[in-house]
Amino acid sequence: MSRRRRVYEGKAKVLFEGPEPGTLVQYFKDDASAFNNQKTGIITGKGVLNNRISEYLMTRLNDIGVPTHFVRRLNMREQLIREVEIVQLEVIVRNVAAGSFCKRFGLTEGAPLPRSIVEFCYKNDELGDPFVSEEHITAFGWAAPQEIDDILSISLRVNDFLTGLFLGIGIRLVDFKLEYGRLWENDQMRIVLADEISPDSCRLWDASTNEKMDKDRFRRDMGNVEEAYQEVARRLGVLPGEGPRDEVKGPTLVH
Ligand code: TMP
Repeated sequence: MSRRRRVYEGKAKVLFEGPEPGTLVQYFKDDASAFNNQKTGIITGKGVLNNRISEYLMTRLNDIGVPTHFVRRLNMREQLIREVEIVQLEVIVRNVAAGSFCKRFGLTEGAPLPRSIVEFCYKNDELGDPFVSEEHITAFGWAAPQEIDDILSISLRVNDFLTGLFLGIGIRLVDFKLEYGRLWENDQMRIVLADEISPDSCRLWDASTNEKMDKDRFRRDMGNVEEAYQEVARRLGVLPGEGPRDEVKGPTLVH
């Protein structure tokens, strides 16, 4: 992990200079944080699992034509990614009422929403990532109208695809957060999916018992946090050390 230039260190990941210009190495830590860093801790093995889970989901999304920053996994905790300029927005897609949405609208957790709802937060820790509208985004220049259109359509496509993928392994995709980046190729810029997709950034409930299989177990001191992340990886068929030569087997469908 040393002898490379550290480009950025966040709460759950470190970015290092990559082997070629325009690439970075994304290192997944076991550190966990919640409530804008007011609660911190370690989820043992989380970095290894999130590296695998995010690799799998980003690869499947790439396969259906969703542009992402992901290039390939390098080792247990690192993946090679394309360097992008991060759009300063957190994009939240919700299918079922949970978390901050219940508080804001007085809803019971688990209430299905009439349709999928996309929300934007301005990525700014000092301000506590406030919810913003498209008006704020364009007025302050955080993203152009065309970029917002691209972000919305990609996010809904990701939601449709991941909802089906997770349902196939007995998991309900309640909500999730996405981040986007601007990728320049020659003089062309396009919006691509960035960051990670993992139980850190998604609410995942067992489809038959509604048991939580995500970071809410850490946020709410529910216990069995590591086990929940492992179970998501296991159902996706990417639990390290399971197959011969540690190969990814793919998901086991639940009927
Ligand atoms: P929320 O209910 O707390 O607003 O969270 C909605 C979803 O977004 C949930 O799956 C957790 C995820 N999320 C993050 O990944 N990072 C964040 O900083 C926040 C606020 C939410």
